[in-house]
Amino acid sequence: RELSREMSRDSRVTDKYAFAFDIDGVLIRGGRPIPEAIEAMKVLNGKNPYGIKIPYIFVTNGGGKTEQERCVQLSKQLELEVSPGQFICGHTPMREMVAQYKTVLVVGGEGEKCRHVAESYGFKDIVTPGDIIKDNPHTTPFRSLTEQELENSKLRNYGKVKIEAILVFADSRDWAGDQQIILDLLTSKGGYLGTRSENFDEGPPLFFAHNDIIWSAQHDHTRLGMGALRLSLEAMYHGITGKKLEATSFGKPQIGTFEFATRLLQQWRKENSGIDAPPETVYFVGDTPESDIRGSNLFNEHSANEWYSILVRTGVYDEGTTPKFTPKATCDNVLQAVLHAIEREK
Ligand code: G3P
Ligand code: MG
Repeated sequence: RELSREMSRDSRVTDKYAFAFDIDGVLIRGGRPIPEAIEAMKVLNGKNPYGIKIPYIFVTNGGGKTEQERCVQLSKQLELEVSPGQFICGHTPMREMVAQYKTVLVVGGEGEKCRHVAESYGFKDIVTPGDIIKDNPHTTPFRSLTEQELENSKLRNYGKVKIEAILVFADSRDWAGDQQIILDLLTSKGGYLGTRSENFDEGPPLFFAHNDIIWSAQHDHTRLGMGALRLSLEAMYHGITGKKLEATSFGKPQIGTFEFATRLLQQWRKENSGIDAPPETVYFVGDTPESDIRGSNLFNEHSANEWYSILVRTGVYDEGTTPKFTPKATCDNVLQAVLHAIEREK
């Protein structure tokens, strides 16, 4: 293919293809960049045999900070500027629920961070597990709030507050306490704490930012993720009520996340490079077959352009096994994945 055709109107940016990157296990592991990630980013920004620049976005199931904060952190880690206009995290789609639910329980993350994320999305009335424990310390018999938590938590009579939805934004830091409170609400009469529904069919809806059972952190082996909390809650809810727990998870592999990513990428290419058409191919680089490869393969079947999945060996995927969902290519690391795509586009 002719290189000249690949150039956009006003720069060295190719309009033919683009990348979408998973973060944990591809670019970052346990808060540190994967060594090849920094070089891979340089290749995308012109350090390649053709001198072209290739647009890219980030699609992570992770979260726990505002998109803005997360981009500042990622910019430092990857030694380049990352804009919120190229970033989607697990809880990003939850901002669309602001109009639907006024009072929400926000679960997970460090300290008050997820309360701030929910505020940044525009939620009007945010309750955290800490607020509930402050109001009634008997809620969690084996967990007391620290002084800092007591100071941050908002005191109210929660028996009088109707909690309309439960939103798990980020990984729980206190599985026992958080699950107790979620179960209290699920089995309540209409979201009022302290009440019990007779048939367990009046509780608020439950949403998770994503459904990864395991993820790749600093430990040699994968660690339990938000999907594991969901499995645990399902088992407990069934044990208590005899019923199946209904819940919704966002993030990858949901098609909606890939549709969102398509819109974001289109916007990003338009605003940054003046390219007003979708790329022919999006290379999706991920480490988790169940989320990244499954989602991009499925989306490829529905999408007008090609979504080409690349599995890397730096995260969840264990080389000794056959991935449950087959990628278009498997590479040792993100740098090899980027070079593979450039070679394929040559
Ligand atoms: O908690 C985050 C983890 O489950 C996955 O993050 O970047 O691999 O989608 P990521
Ligand atoms: Mg990952």
